Amino acid sequence: MCGVVGYIGKNNAVPVLLSGLSKLEYRGYDSAGIAVYNNGEINICKTRGRIDDLRNKLLSAPISGNLGIGHTRWATHGVPSDENAHPHFNQDSKIAVVHNGIIENYLVIKEELEAKGYKFLSETDTESVAHLLDFYYEKEGMDILDAVFKVIERIEGSYALGIICSDFPDQLIAVRKDSPLVVGLGKGENFIASDMPAILNYTRDTYLIDDNEVVVLKTDSVTVLDSNKNEVKKEVFRVDWDVEAAEKSGYDHFMLKEIYEQPKVVKENLSRRFKEDGTGVQLDSIALGKKELENINRIYICACGTAYYAGLIGKYLIERIARIPVNSEVASEFRYKDPLIDEHTLMVVVSQSGETADTLAAMRLAKSKGARVLGIVNAIGSSIAREADDVLYTLAGPEIAVASTKAFTAQVVAMYLLTIHIAQELGVLDTEKFKELKSDMEKLPSLVNEILTKAPRIKRFMHKYINSKNVFYIGRGLDYVVSQEGSLKLKEIAYLHSEPYAAGELKHGPIALIEESTLVIGVVTQEELFEKTVSNLVEVKARGARILAIAMEGNKEIEKVADDVFYIPRTHWMLAPLLANIPQQLFAYYVALGLGNDVDKPRNLAKSVTVE
Ligand code: AGP
Repeated sequence: MCGVVGYIGKNNAVPVLLSGLSKLEYRGYDSAGIAVYNNGEINICKTRGRIDDLRNKLLSAPISGNLGIGHTRWATHGVPSDENAHPHFNQDSKIAVVHNGIIENYLVIKEELEAKGYKFLSETDTESVAHLLDFYYEKEGMDILDAVFKVIERIEGSYALGIICSDFPDQLIAVRKDSPLVVGLGKGENFIASDMPAILNYTRDTYLIDDNEVVVLKTDSVTVLDSNKNEVKKEVFRVDWDVEAAEKSGYDHFMLKEIYEQPKVVKENLSRRFKEDGTGVQLDSIALGKKELENINRIYICACGTAYYAGLIGKYLIERIARIPVNSEVASEFRYKDPLIDEHTLMVVVSQSGETADTLAAMRLAKSKGARVLGIVNAIGSSIAREADDVLYTLAGPEIAVASTKAFTAQVVAMYLLTIHIAQELGVLDTEKFKELKSDMEKLPSLVNEILTKAPRIKRFMHKYINSKNVFYIGRGLDYVVSQEGSLKLKEIAYLHSEPYAAGELKHGPIALIEESTLVIGVVTQEELFEKTVSNLVEVKARGARILAIAMEGNKEIEKVADDVFYIPRTHWMLAPLLANIPQQLFAYYVALGLGNDVDKPRNLAKSVTVE
């Protein structure tokens, strides 16, 4: 939930660290800091607040040097404060540490060190690493690298660590376990970062660091060691994203830019996955053919948050079209419920970041019990992508806004493709039906565009409904899943209390909450369920609710009950969720903006949840 960066080279580390941190701010943004070596000592500048606050602090107390580490924090242990901000020093300020992750046994270590006379200045778990290093290096007289190995023997939990020591101004040490870390390979300079965008301005050549690896970076070399201190030969991974992909490119917010990128994202996913002869789909090199699928009697789709809703769409589709039972599960629950898994289970995990701690743990659990794992992942080279048996990349490019938009849309496309693949392999979707579906899918990019041109209409809805205190999202079937995603988006960035309900459930309790002017957003794109949901809307209308409906073009009946209607273009029922979600994204965006919220960095959240 934090971002770490590091630099060693011939240039001043400070601008490199600040630029890297600003690209990682999506990972956490309640405090930030850097530590830079210069002339025999390490200077730290850190503050509660954002990278801009750190920049301002540096203006009044500038530091510089060719070696440094930096951090942007999402508080776990201790409130956001100057003291708890990283980097953290050891006792004599010779060693500085930045950390992303959680040291689970830090209290034991802290107690042990306090008994030895160590004084802790922060409430963080990370400070125990700095003092433990101090103990092995200063007190036990170990070499600094041996001290690092000793520390990682002792600490439990997840960590990407950046470490510098003023006795070794020619090296930066980094360690990874269960928290993302990449190394950027420059010419006469090298970098570490929690994510690629932080280093893309400087290099596209990277090493993807694996768990339990320790990296020693010098100006002209990078050495990667395994847990036995043996050198690991890493392959250079070249990043082929545009640098602009991680820039706002003239949009007011990353979220808006990412919403507008969706036609391109859908097109990219489809054009790469339809077979040239038009008879089916090709899912990269995924080895899930007829033989493997016939061996499977249960599918789990596991994920968190928005990715979970994409997975839920997959469940509806695979069950309805491919006729295999699918359990769609929230990863944080799944991992602790002793699920029924064996070698006849297919585990599908869905994740934008590929680093979400619960999703990763659910995946590892399934794997350890013999399941075959398919990762549907956006971040290339991420932990899930590397550990899954098969990977289907969602090709959305970097998603920076905390609220997921284009990644969700790409995940939904992946669910369409996976459903088609499974159904075709099992012989339950004939070529004619596939061709019809393909033709409808190929229209999606222009249909998404068509919706985006109607953004001003959604902005008008915002003005009308912005003062709503409680919002209900209701729908049936796939519309219910879309409702859940819409409600999450509104909570996340507009901070409005909203509840998604299966429309048929309202009368079993929640309808008691409907009062004069409660906003109910009715998603009614599934034509076979249209009348049923409309009846539920009539019921809430009778109790004073205002209704904003999202319906399929042509279903004008909805106008008799709804105060306002947003029509999505006509499409295949299976594709409607992708389209129906776009106005919901825009609605949440405009409401958040209208309320003066920080759209890209909503309060209390971070983009990548790498802790439990
Ligand atoms: C989406 O808007 C949220 N920020 C969040 O629910 C997110 O989808 C979830 O944390 C899962 O992240 P992942 O896709 O990176 O695994």
